[in-house]
Amino acid sequence: MCGIVGYVGRAEAAPILLDGLRRLEYRGYDSAGIAIVDGDHVETRKCAGRIADLSKLMAENPAAGHYGISHTRWATHGKPTDQNAHPHFDESGKLALVHNGVIENYQQIKETLLQEHEHHFASETDSEVLAHLVGQIYDDSAVGVLDPRRHKSLLVEALRTALQQVIGTYGIALCHSDIPDFIVGARRGSPLVLGVGKDENFLASDVSAIVAYTRDAVYLNDFDLVAVERDKFEISSLGGERGNHSISKVEFTAEDIKKGDYPHYMLKEIFEQPGSVRDAMRGRLSLEECTAKLGGLNMTAAQLRDVGRVVLTGCGTALHAGMVGEYLIEQLAQIPTEVEFASEFRHRNTPMTRDTLVFAISQSGETADTLGALRESQRKGYRTLGICNNVASTIARESDGGVYMHAGPEIGVAATKSFTSQVVILNLIGLLLGRMRHLSTAEGTRLIEALESLPEKIEEVLKLSDTIKGIATKYAEATGILFFGRQLNFPVALEAALKMKEITYLYAEGHPSAELKHGIIALVKPELPSVFIAPDDAVFSKNLNNIEQVRARKGPIIAVTTESGAVRLKGIADDIILVPDAHDIAMPILTVIPLQLFAYHLAVALGRDVDKPRNLAKSVTVE
Ligand code: M6R
Repeated sequence: MCGIVGYVGRAEAAPILLDGLRRLEYRGYDSAGIAIVDGDHVETRKCAGRIADLSKLMAENPAAGHYGISHTRWATHGKPTDQNAHPHFDESGKLALVHNGVIENYQQIKETLLQEHEHHFASETDSEVLAHLVGQIYDDSAVGVLDPRRHKSLLVEALRTALQQVIGTYGIALCHSDIPDFIVGARRGSPLVLGVGKDENFLASDVSAIVAYTRDAVYLNDFDLVAVERDKFEISSLGGERGNHSISKVEFTAEDIKKGDYPHYMLKEIFEQPGSVRDAMRGRLSLEECTAKLGGLNMTAAQLRDVGRVVLTGCGTALHAGMVGEYLIEQLAQIPTEVEFASEFRHRNTPMTRDTLVFAISQSGETADTLGALRESQRKGYRTLGICNNVASTIARESDGGVYMHAGPEIGVAATKSFTSQVVILNLIGLLLGRMRHLSTAEGTRLIEALESLPEKIEEVLKLSDTIKGIATKYAEATGILFFGRQLNFPVALEAALKMKEITYLYAEGHPSAELKHGIIALVKPELPSVFIAPDDAVFSKNLNNIEQVRARKGPIIAVTTESGAVRLKGIADDIILVPDAHDIAMPILTVIPLQLFAYHLAVALGRDVDKPRNLAKSVTVE
């Protein structure tokens, strides 16, 4: 949701800023811009469109200088136009600012600046208002002869004073042409990390932007301000206290975020799933005790035993994983479990008992709605744990404990490997809670074996990619696609439909199979294929009834099933995608992967921009 990169050092800033923006493009890609200080003035280039368009602009009209800021945008206030692209400037034209977040009281601030100072605004954005406010406060204080040291601290103070007046969220970077080799950052609700290099320092929304230059990072907290120079940095709080932050090592390298030989990140990440699923359970299964070991939960055996209710919250794909988790935890541990949309949870009065354990599920760990739910749950005094991929994320840091996914960076906007890792982790949680109660050692062992056999079975599923491509191409003319599943495979139907909508822009919905006859059947027609996720399990014959109901109305049927299911579906389903047989708890992982591939190949057949679907951004840090 907008990406920020800042640089101050000895190298030319432009290539570093552009390179960083390319790596952050997953956060937003409707417009982009750069501001670089060249001697006594700021050079800026910005345009609507992708980073490639900005690069072209920079190639035609280069900007030189050793410090600057840059931004890739996902529009909130104001259309994606050249004018609304960041950086934005203050009234003097000397201060440039990039912003990720929302300034809620910008109209009020703008009114004051217009009436009291006759400012002129060039864009429709809330961010430009912030640039003007900081600039006005700075100009009011920075009178007299230019003294870089004094003016640096005046600029930091101006930002501090401005932010004290602001209601909303922000990740910010700014620079001023009067103050050489100096950039300033701040965060509240939108991530910002400081990259510490040798004779150079960086600011970025995400370490992936800077990991090619340094793996030493300082993760800023909400209400932190940071003054950055070539060879030093100083962190302070919004209240003015000096900060004491440690430098962490980024756990992945620049190599890990390359696309390699894959045409898209999404395909690369789908194919990484044997490894990511293995990593999600590595060191966390004990065959000896027939249970899972999750030390990061920070809970004693007695506390785990006393959990009386579980709430799982998240958004999008993470919410769907939570829905699988609801089935798993209730089935394995018999603990009543609720799944809550994170965006709803914090605004409604969900009944909670004293023994409720809450999990916030988020790949990025930065989703504003999920973070809001986590904070609300903690405010009420509930133990709230995180299931995150990004270890340095706000949710990971603010939760009372949790389980990391260890899936490696997920760059494709459509989440794939994070879903399967989340389902593995929810299995581990179900197993652990189950074994604290009635679940037998024999069943514990069966579950562990089922989980451990997954990577090999996923490899088998991935071999179907070409077959699935053939099926997807066959349905490229479809007007939409319906997905149906029962029990643990119902959330898979939702997830498959979400993938389809996100990257093909086709109408797609997921439903419990049996709901078909309660209304959805009215949609069935030859141009609208139905995908049934129907492994040969306890509800197979029920699924079969629903499949027959669609067939009777000439709806094309694609079945995701196991070998014995395929035998019974021969002559009934138009296309069959065969997945290996597995324990019920492992099945959602094996059934979702072919449907990730189905959405992927269909999107490619339709010529869609798979990694950067329209209107979306990977990490949604606004409400
Ligand atoms: O980073 P998070 O897991 O919190 O993200 C939650 C959703 O925004 C995310 O899953 C979104 O729905 C994806 N684009 C789905 O593919």
